[in-house]
Amino acid sequence: MRKSLSLMASAAYVSMSVFAYAQSHQPWLDKSKTPDERAKLVIAAMTLDEKIILLHGIMPLALLSDSEITFPEDSIPGAGYIAGIPRLGIPALKETDASLGVTNPLGSRPGDVATALPASLALGASFNPALAYEAGAVVASEARKKGFNVLLGGGINLTRDPRNGRNFEYIGEDPLLSGIMGGEAVRGTQDQNVISTVKHYVLNAHETNRHTLDALIDRAALRESDLLAFQIAIERGQPGAIMCAYNKVNGAYGCGDDWSLNEVLKKDWGYKGWVLSDWGAVHSVDYAVAGLDQQSGAQLDKEIWFDKPLKAAVQDGRIPESRVTDMAYRIVHAMFAVGVVDNPPVPADIDYKKNAETALKIAQQGIVLLKNENDLLPLVQSAKRIAVIGGQAHMGVLSGSGSAQGTPSNGPTKVIPIGGHGDFSVFRNAIYYPSAPVAEIQKLVPDTKVLYDAGLHPLDAADLAKKSDVAIVFVTRHELEGYDVPDMNLPHGQNELIAAVAAANPRTIVVLETGNPVTMPWLDSVGAVIAAWYPGQEGGQAIAEILLGKINPSGRLPITFPVNDAATVRPELPNRGAEADAQVSISYVEGADVGYRWHAKSGVKPLFSFGYGLTYTSFEYSNLKVRGGDTVTVEFDVKNTGKTAGADVPQLYLRTTPQEPSVRLLGFERVELAPGQRKRISFKADPRILAKFDESARQWSVAGGDYKVSIGKSASDFVLDGTARIKDYTIKP
Ligand code: BGC
Repeated sequence: MRKSLSLMASAAYVSMSVFAYAQSHQPWLDKSKTPDERAKLVIAAMTLDEKIILLHGIMPLALLSDSEITFPEDSIPGAGYIAGIPRLGIPALKETDASLGVTNPLGSRPGDVATALPASLALGASFNPALAYEAGAVVASEARKKGFNVLLGGGINLTRDPRNGRNFEYIGEDPLLSGIMGGEAVRGTQDQNVISTVKHYVLNAHETNRHTLDALIDRAALRESDLLAFQIAIERGQPGAIMCAYNKVNGAYGCGDDWSLNEVLKKDWGYKGWVLSDWGAVHSVDYAVAGLDQQSGAQLDKEIWFDKPLKAAVQDGRIPESRVTDMAYRIVHAMFAVGVVDNPPVPADIDYKKNAETALKIAQQGIVLLKNENDLLPLVQSAKRIAVIGGQAHMGVLSGSGSAQGTPSNGPTKVIPIGGHGDFSVFRNAIYYPSAPVAEIQKLVPDTKVLYDAGLHPLDAADLAKKSDVAIVFVTRHELEGYDVPDMNLPHGQNELIAAVAAANPRTIVVLETGNPVTMPWLDSVGAVIAAWYPGQEGGQAIAEILLGKINPSGRLPITFPVNDAATVRPELPNRGAEADAQVSISYVEGADVGYRWHAKSGVKPLFSFGYGLTYTSFEYSNLKVRGGDTVTVEFDVKNTGKTAGADVPQLYLRTTPQEPSVRLLGFERVELAPGQRKRISFKADPRILAKFDESARQWSVAGGDYKVSIGKSASDFVLDGTARIKDYTIKP
């Protein structure tokens, strides 16, 4: 005993002295120093070659290996790997896609699963920043236990077009909502000592020809929209990394754009982290000068620019070494700041049951009740026969595909290969997660006959609907990265199916599992509609709970539902059918008037507005007090006036500035209230949302005068109005 104690004591002594030695010889490992001091010290100890090691990485996927690329032993099959510098105690960066959970691209880690969260649109629909934090933390905690220290998510591009194939990966159309939710997800992630990335900087609103697309937009408008979303997320979350996008903006490729990277991100905002490229988005070594700090998945580019070509450019004086030093500094600074050096990932078991609760919560709070005529929902438990029709509701719930595709932890998926061509055709598989709505509904009403019809033949479905108390039609649309949908319609004759079922039984409920708004030509003939997005691995349960009233719906639309394609900024999907390598462009003529702002300005009525969503109770707003000065501050009461507990999301909107009508979200809060309960809410507007950006003066300019504001239930349903007198002033960018 004595011997083993003394052995332990001497082992502890040895490790302490190794530690002390390391600290004196490697002072950047001293945790009491600031990340800036530590980064400067370690950079000073690096050779040029070592700095360059940090500036490029590979995509360690077997299908992308060739004779020139060998994968290091410590790499994990997944999205990215950047070698470390063991001599200096700098670990490798191990990156995983993670917008909706840790991914396992094309099953490259056989059998490895992860909690598969609902679409980011569902998270956006919760209007719940605390839930965004929780989502970020859950994904990061799983990533750590799998050995990753960088998350390549999430996406916060504004959803400018209801046909963009990646909208399911984004939070919504409003910069305040996306910025706050995105920033909270970053905080949740980085509090787990995992670096977070926000993407795709900065205007990546369509997938069609994303490698050649030139997104044209007025710079001031960009500052007031997508850039503002990134700015708010960065201020709130301080993400270690930003991923630049594939496409061009105003002629310059996103990862080689001096204006958005150097001028805006690094100079105006003082961003301290590093810019990493999207995979296959680097076209020249000069991108280093334009502000790109790291080339990701470099074997996908024509050359590994940020390796030998960068060294050569430094040696022959084309690129100053100080730039390379800055690139490496930014990376190690983030590594120290977030804690990936001090607290590296440790492989461990994951409590998937517990994490599944987060996936369930996001679905419960993010599903939006769009229509509920004559209180058809919640379904009465006494229904004798419920018809469930279509949408593979007997198998599971649909998910979105591409690099964000998950591999759920609660059982095997069902895969329907779709096929097709294009860069991302390997991802053209409709993947259903295990939580099957038919079984989940049956669980909640064990004495009811729940009968399923596949919905292949409208006549069969209508026959079943006629014989049932109620018919629930599940409709789906598979959407994925790399492709936009050509129009807003549901595919596979699902509109005809709904029309036939509704004609047979007016007590028809439609459940949408889509990554975007869709047209609803049958809306008047059905009793209820629910937008479930892609509801994640626990989605079937959440849908059943909402249908049967176990959960009171509280989701609010983070994206406008236009009536149809003709009632959008671009009546036709731009560049539809273009050859894959054709140079294309889109003029984002709506500028900063994205989504509800465009509808307000143009007078085109949406089908359902941004911010809209029904519940099984009712809420009342009163006692509004508005104050002005530097910005708008409001206080008001919200009261649950119904019979059930529920959550409301009161919203503060700007209505007019001294110059013009302008509808903009200024504040929101999700409040849970018992029947009869009242709560006083206050909002203080971010003055940049009252302002216009003046690009020539490079500042926000707030016009002095009266600003009309409203508390509303959506961007077109205003309940209380007030006016604030604001002073004339400017704000630095
Ligand atoms: C996507 C990124 C993703 C990367 C790595 C790209 O195709 O655009 O969002 O992080 O692949 O998988």
